[in-house]
Amino acid sequence: MTVLLELKSVSRQFGGLNAVNDVSFQVSQGEILGLIGPNGAGKTTLINLITGVHPATSGRILFDGQDITKMRAHQIARKGLARTFQVVQPFPKMTVLENVATGALFAGGATGLKDAFAQARQHLEFTGLGDSVDKLASTLTLAKRKRLELAKGLAMRPRLLMLDEVNAGLNSMEIDDALRMIRTIAERGVTIIIIEHLMKVMLSTAQRIVALHYGQMIADGVPDAVLRNPRVIEAYLGSKYAAAHSGSSA
Ligand SMILES: Nc1ncnc2c1ncn2[C@@H]1O[C@H](COP(=O)(O)OP(=O)(O)O)[C@@H](O)[C@H]1O
Ligand SMILES: [Mg+2]
Repeated sequence: MTVLLELKSVSRQFGGLNAVNDVSFQVSQGEILGLIGPNGAGKTTLINLITGVHPATSGRILFDGQDITKMRAHQIARKGLARTFQVVQPFPKMTVLENVATGALFAGGATGLKDAFAQARQHLEFTGLGDSVDKLASTLTLAKRKRLELAKGLAMRPRLLMLDEVNAGLNSMEIDDALRMIRTIAERGVTIIIIEHLMKVMLSTAQRIVALHYGQMIADGVPDAVLRNPRVIEAYLGSKYAAAHSGSSA
C-alpha cells in the first residue's frame, strides 16, 4: 500500500518535558488509524506537530513523500492535511455557513465566495447541520459544534483528516451518527487518524492502532492485539489508578 504519512523519530519537548518522544510510524493511503493513550500521552501534541501548529524539536515528517517538517500550518493545510480541534474553535461571530466557507476558501480550492458557500452547504448537509447554516457558531450545542468542526475539516478537501476526540461529550446516539459519517468520509478515499478514548469506537472504526504513553509509542498493530498488549493495559490501569487516588475524573 502507498504510504501517505511517515513519521521518523519525531520528538517535541516543552521545557524539560518530552511530550512526544522519538515516535516513528507510517500511515497508508486509505487507512483509518486510531491513536490512543491516557491523558497527557502526547496525542494532541503529535497532531499539532503533523499540522505545523508546533514545530518538532527533532525528527522528520513526510507527507506523500514530501518533507513537511519545517512547513508552516497554512502550507501544510493546503497540501491536504486537515484536523479538528479537541477544544472546538469555531469563529464565534460568524455564522455556521461562513465558518465552513472559510475552510473552503482557505484550502478547499473554492474559486470564489459563491463557490465557497455552495461547497459549505454541501458539507453542512452531510454533517446534519443543514438547518443551522444561518446560526451564529457560538449558539450551537456541543454536539453541533463538533459537527461544525468536522464540516470545517471536510471543506478543506483533505487527503488526510485527523479527528481529535470528536466524540467526547456526546451521547451514544450522537456517537453512532458521528461514526457513520467518519466511515462514509473514509469510503470517499480520505485517510483518517482518529484520537478517541472510547474503545467501542476504536474497535468499530480503526484498522490499526498506535498507542502512546508519556510521549513514547508503546504499541502499533491491529486493534485486538494492541488492546490486549500488556504495556497498553498497564498504561491505562496506571492512569486510572492515579486518577482514582487524586480525586480527578481524567
Ligand atoms: N503548548 C504546550 N506547552 C507546554 N506543555 C504542553 C503543551 N501542549 C501539551 N503540553 C504537555 O504535553 C503533554 C502531552 O499533552 P497532550 O499532547 O495534550 O496529551 P493528550 O492529547 O494525549 O492528552 C502533557 O504533559 C501536556 O501538559
Ligand atoms: Mg488531547
